[in-house]
Amino acid sequence: MTPDTLFQYVPTPATLVKKEKLSDFVTLFTFQPDSGRALMHKPGQFIMLSMYGVGEAPFSVSSPPNASGSTFELAVRRIGNVTNAMHAMKVGQKVGIRGPYGTSFPVQDFVGKDTIFVAGGLGYIPLRSLLHYQLRHRDEFGRIIVMIGCRNPSERIFIDQIKELEARDDVEVYETVDCGDESWCGNVGLITSLLPHVEIDPDITHVAMVGPPVMYKFVIKQCQARGISRENIYVSLERHMKCGIGKCGHCQINGLNACVEGPVFKYHDIQTHPEAI
Ligand SMILES: Cc1cc2nc3c(=O)[nH]c(=O)nc-3n(C[C@H](O)[C@H](O)[C@H](O)COP(=O)(O)OP(=O)(O)OC[C@H]3O[C@@H](n4cnc5c(N)ncnc54)[C@H](O)[C@@H]3O)c2cc1C
Ligand code: FES
Repeated sequence: MTPDTLFQYVPTPATLVKKEKLSDFVTLFTFQPDSGRALMHKPGQFIMLSMYGVGEAPFSVSSPPNASGSTFELAVRRIGNVTNAMHAMKVGQKVGIRGPYGTSFPVQDFVGKDTIFVAGGLGYIPLRSLLHYQLRHRDEFGRIIVMIGCRNPSERIFIDQIKELEARDDVEVYETVDCGDESWCGNVGLITSLLPHVEIDPDITHVAMVGPPVMYKFVIKQCQARGISRENIYVSLERHMKCGIGKCGHCQINGLNACVEGPVFKYHDIQTHPEAI
């Protein structure tokens, strides 16, 4: 086994170098692999992170490839053992990382095309990697249309970065919350209420979508009604994962291992899999 394959199967140490609160339950973690080597991930891929003595869980890499040297970012919601332990970490503490794993958004297919990003809730986390890649290579891509929805204003994440996107004249941002409050003066409604506001050219539009399972069916229906081909709609499907490398079968979707054959799928390729969407 070469050192490169070892990096894929055995957790290697990384150090927490920065921690930033994004909302009451979500924190952005910046890690530096102790090897000094970059992850070499592609947008949409995930890693397996071990909290020593607690457990291991999959997380999408939220930073774009090789953003700043060899550090990488994960945005993590506090929900159970591993994520609670992560939220209690102090800068300088060690974790184990394996990966990157899984399929990615095929960046080259998006070149010269318009992209609609559809981010429901924490779906913005993996999409941010592709979005920031496109922003860094802005001239290579057509329109960048970002649609973000979450349940209520307190669940919004990356608020300052989204404000910066809104201030740009080469990015179109549409945001909504299911349920507003006194702090919110934006759109109220489901994420499906955003697409009808946007003029699109379906022949050159690609869609990258990540969100809660219930969202996909409705957004895909809308996209198809607007003439976007199922060949150009990409979804990322999260399933319970244990090994991340196609061995344990925990993540199966009608025989597909979501950890290896996904998590990013072309809608065309999974439309006949009833457990997918
Ligand atoms: C490919 C992939 C990428 C992921 N990327 C991210 C990411 O970038 N950020 C992030 O915060 N999470 C991400 N997740 C989800 C994360 O891996 C899980 O939430 C993980 O189980 C947390 O581990 P834990 O030990 O803290 O919680 P657990 O002890 O595993 O879970 C505690 C409880 O929460 C429930 N639960 C776990 N996950 C979820 C969920 N997603 N929705 C609803 N209930 C849940 C469990 O069923 C259990 O009852 C990703 C998952 C996959 C498969
Ligand atoms: S997580 Fe084990 S096969 Fe996918």
